[in-house]
Amino acid sequence: MKRRWPVAAVAVAASAAAVALSRDRLARAIANVRAFSAPTAGLYDALASPVLDGFFTRVADDVLAGRESARIVEIGAGPGRLASRVAELGRGASVVASDVAPAMLARAASWADRSGVGERVRFVLADVTALPFADASFDAVVTTLSLHHWPDARVGLAEVRRVLRPGGIARVYDIADWVTRFEPGGNRIRGETLFTDGWTKRTEAHVGPVPLLYRADLSV
Ligand SMILES: C[S@@+](CC[C@H](N)C(=O)[O-])C[C@H]1O[C@@H](n2cnc3c(N)ncnc32)[C@H](O)[C@@H]1O
Repeated sequence: MKRRWPVAAVAVAASAAAVALSRDRLARAIANVRAFSAPTAGLYDALASPVLDGFFTRVADDVLAGRESARIVEIGAGPGRLASRVAELGRGASVVASDVAPAMLARAASWADRSGVGERVRFVLADVTALPFADASFDAVVTTLSLHHWPDARVGLAEVRRVLRPGGIARVYDIADWVTRFEPGGNRIRGETLFTDGWTKRTEAHVGPVPLLYRADLSV
C-alpha cells in the first residue's frame, strides 16, 4: 500500500504537467490565430503560400516598378515568399523582411535560402508598432494581409510613415472589410480614417476583379 503513493503522485504530477502543456499549446495556438489566422506558422505557410504565389509576383512587380535599386522593407512578412520574390526580381534592391513572430521569420529565412537569395534578404524580428529602423531609412514599405492583425493600426501606420524617406511609398494590401467583418478584432479600413494622418496622398483599389483584397498606396 505504502509503495502506491509515489506511483499515484507521479501519475497526478504527469497528468497536471500534460494539462498545463496542452493549455500552453492551446494558448499559443490562439495567440497565433490572432496574429496570423492559423494555429502554427507551418500550417499558415502550407495553406496560404501556394495560393498566394501569383499575387506575390504581382505585388513584387508593383513595388519594384521604377525602384529596382530601392531600399525596401516588408512588414509582417510571414513565411517570406514576397520578400524572396522581391529579391529575385529586383537584383539591385536591398530587402528587409520583418515580422513579430520568430517562427514566421525562421520559415522566411529558410525559404530565402532555398530560393537562392538568402544572402540578399535581411530578417528582422519587429513589431510594427515599434520598428527598430531609423527615420527615413527606406524608399518603399510593403505589407500584405497583415494590417488587420496589428494591435494598433494607427500606431503601425505612423511607424511606417516614420521609416519612409520623403517621397517614398507604402503599399498596403489587405483583406476587404466585408471579409474582416467575420474576424473579431480585425482592423477595418473603409469607413475609418486610418490612412489620413500624415499621409499626403491616398488611393485605394481592389486587387483583381474579385473584391477580396484592397490595395492602398500611401506616400509622404
Ligand atoms: C496573415 S499573415 C500574412 C503573412 C504574409 N505577409 C502573407 O501575405 O502571406 C500576417 C503576418 O503579420 C504578422 N503580424 C501580426 N501582427 C504584427 C505586428 N504587430 N507587427 C508585425 N507583424 C505582425 C504575423 O506574425 C504574420 O506573419
